Amino acid sequence: MGKPIYVLSGPNLNLLGTREPEIYGHQTLEDVRVLCEARARSLGHEVVFRQSNHEGVLVDWIQEAREAACALVINPAAYGHTSIALLDALKMLSIPVVECHLSNPAAREAFRRETYVSLAATGLVSGFGANSYELAVEAAAGLVR
Ligand code: DQA
Repeated sequence: MGKPIYVLSGPNLNLLGTREPEIYGHQTLEDVRVLCEARARSLGHEVVFRQSNHEGVLVDWIQEAREAACALVINPAAYGHTSIALLDALKMLSIPVVECHLSNPAAREAFRRETYVSLAATGLVSGFGANSYELAVEAAAGLVR
């Protein structure tokens, strides 16, 4: 088994399942972790699955991924729309980066249409609920091969 795929989630995603379920669905972040691990394993990969509400912690994990991961999936949540620090950290990665969103931010409020993270992402999966994460893991695994 090679290096794992890092799957990082940003602020408020710890409350998935109870947070605006009409937008983000009823599955919890734990459910999402199980889906990601199963999909990754079926493709011969392990997953490191983490969530933080803190921008600096996410920056630390992205930096860690430079050496420790074979690919990175990130749902930056609201930080995607605001954080140049996350963008700068992601730009230092030489592994594939897949941005992922449960909802489709492009179809929501205008302030969600811009994402700094996209500037450093290989690709983007959005709008498929928890399945966005699975698809992003699959895309990441495909880019590693
Ligand atoms: C989100 C979309 C963001 O606009 C929002 O701030 C989130 C979740 C999503 O997964 O759909 O927190 O990243």
